[in-house]
Amino acid sequence: MLLRIPGVYAPQDDTWLLADAMAEHSLDADTRVLDLCTGTGALAVRAAKLGAGSVTAIDISRRAALTATLNSRVNGHTIRVLRGDLTAPVRGERFDLVISNPPYVPAEDDRIPGTGMARAWDAGTDGRALLDRICTQAPDILAPEGTLLVAQSALSGVDKTHVMLEEQGLQADIVARREIAFGPVLTARRRMLESRGVITADQRSEEIVVIRARRHR
Ligand SMILES: C[S@@+](CC[C@H](N)C(=O)[O-])C[C@H]1O[C@@H](n2cnc3c(N)ncnc32)[C@H](O)[C@@H]1O
Repeated sequence: MLLRIPGVYAPQDDTWLLADAMAEHSLDADTRVLDLCTGTGALAVRAAKLGAGSVTAIDISRRAALTATLNSRVNGHTIRVLRGDLTAPVRGERFDLVISNPPYVPAEDDRIPGTGMARAWDAGTDGRALLDRICTQAPDILAPEGTLLVAQSALSGVDKTHVMLEEQGLQADIVARREIAFGPVLTARRRMLESRGVITADQRSEEIVVIRARRHR
């Protein structure tokens, strides 16, 4: 059961694609999970259900943090929910599995919304405002054998994520992909994205991928 306060991102295909990718990992009492950009806490709750020993969830939105706290309780799990900017609330800590379905939709300009629903998806002109930060901060929050699973659209530069993670000394692979129809946000931005050459004139769907990164073995 998942509750959702108005203004909090409703779990969607990208959420569930990442949840399925996470289920491929064996989580046990020793596994420390961090869910960055948790929204309702859907992925954090799933990690707890899968048997993770500890789960931490972070979101910048007050409503999201409250929703994730409620969902932790109604599902009978103990999840540490923190409000803050990306990894700032857990500086100095290390996690065995870091999952994130961050905002990744290319926006009109590089302004990052400070409030409102758009904060859940707008990520600058190239859609990478959060993705780039996750790539560069990943080594600081991953335990030595830790794994990052991050979801994004093919419209926001999968190759760039791959290159950035490799530059951080991590081995990156795509472990899941799904083609999904444009929702209302991308439908409204079709003309803009077409004029930038990001999509073709007849394009009505985007590919969502999950990228896994871990240290080279
Ligand atoms: C696409 S939603 C995903 C929510 C949830 N993980 C899911 O898959 O259903 C992105 C979330 O990132 C949060 N967010 C945006 N900027 C953030 C930041 N700088 N630090 C932490 N969370 C942020 C938003 O509030 C929103 O809840």
